[in-house]
Amino acid sequence: MKLRVPAAVPGSRILAFGDYQPARVVTNDELAETVDTSDEWIRTRVGIASRRIAGPEEGIVEMAVHAAGKALAGSGLGPGDIDLVVLATCSAESPMPAHAPQVASRLGIDAPGAFDLNAACAGFCYALGAADAAVRAGTARNALVIGAEKMSAWLDWSDRSTSIIFADGAGAAVVTGSAEPGVGPVVWGSDGDHHDKIIIPDRNAFIRQEGQAVFRWATGAIAPVALEACERAGVAPSDLAAIVPHQANLRIVDAIARKVKATNAVVADDIVHSGNTSGASIPLALSRMIERGDVPSGAPALLVGFGAGLAYAAQVIQIP
Ligand code: UT7
Repeated sequence: MKLRVPAAVPGSRILAFGDYQPARVVTNDELAETVDTSDEWIRTRVGIASRRIAGPEEGIVEMAVHAAGKALAGSGLGPGDIDLVVLATCSAESPMPAHAPQVASRLGIDAPGAFDLNAACAGFCYALGAADAAVRAGTARNALVIGAEKMSAWLDWSDRSTSIIFADGAGAAVVTGSAEPGVGPVVWGSDGDHHDKIIIPDRNAFIRQEGQAVFRWATGAIAPVALEACERAGVAPSDLAAIVPHQANLRIVDAIARKVKATNAVVADDIVHSGNTSGASIPLALSRMIERGDVPSGAPALLVGFGAGLAYAAQVIQIP
């Protein structure tokens, strides 16, 4: 028996990005009122000046709808064009149902394939890799790829090692089929031996991380993954217009950018005013960079995600 499969499409590309941030700004000084920390320590060690924290009405679905709606509006496509919605999140308020079907319904997208994906801070790169594969295989014409996180719901606000880092927000991209590939091959991987390095151990627990161990891993193991993504896409690091690492810590972002030697690239530093929004940080940062006109349309950008799992992924994309 021979099964029929759809005709393959040469590539996929991103038509538009969108983002959403909660209105509430929380400064370092505000946190220092309740935990033993300081604006100086947080700026120097992590690079954060302020972050956005969601209110009770700003759940993952709500933030995802805003970010994805903005991306859809910018793409020139309508809800009827989308047949796949992939939502990356590691801060789901409950394990089921997935958030993606609700996001699709709220946007008026009728009966798409829709699922959540958990690769923590690497989630957006994983989701983009999955959507790119679906579009190229001909199983989806156009896909919405979203990273949305409400990390604040899983924080122990008396723990100064985590409460000063994590934050809330969403970013999204519309992916379409293309004769010219605009999404390079994803380089993805994991190391489950170190699953306990960043963890919410059970439903009554908060986020815990071994900060120094993760810092060493992120500054050592991730640049080679980023370089491999460039190599597989056939793009020299010196040709990159932007490098958008997961916004974990400004010192990690700088270390990765230095090792990649992307000498002509704008390096994303969205963490300064957005904090670490885990799976949302990459599309959130890039959407804001595009909106400000910091990066040229059509040029290559390197996306690099890494975090709990441990999981990591990178790919080069063409900026819409
Ligand atoms: O997004 C997922 C991936 N996550 C990451 O990539 C996070 C990677 N790790 C990091 O970014 C850093 O390790 C942290 C920001 C989490 C911590 O920075 P660090 O420079 O590694 O600090 P540390 O944990 O080594 O702590 C240094 C000192 C300690 O005091 P002693 O033992 O030297 O007296 C901590 O108790 O700083 C203390 N400390 C703080 N002091 C003021 C820890 N947190 C704070 C704080 N304010 N918020």
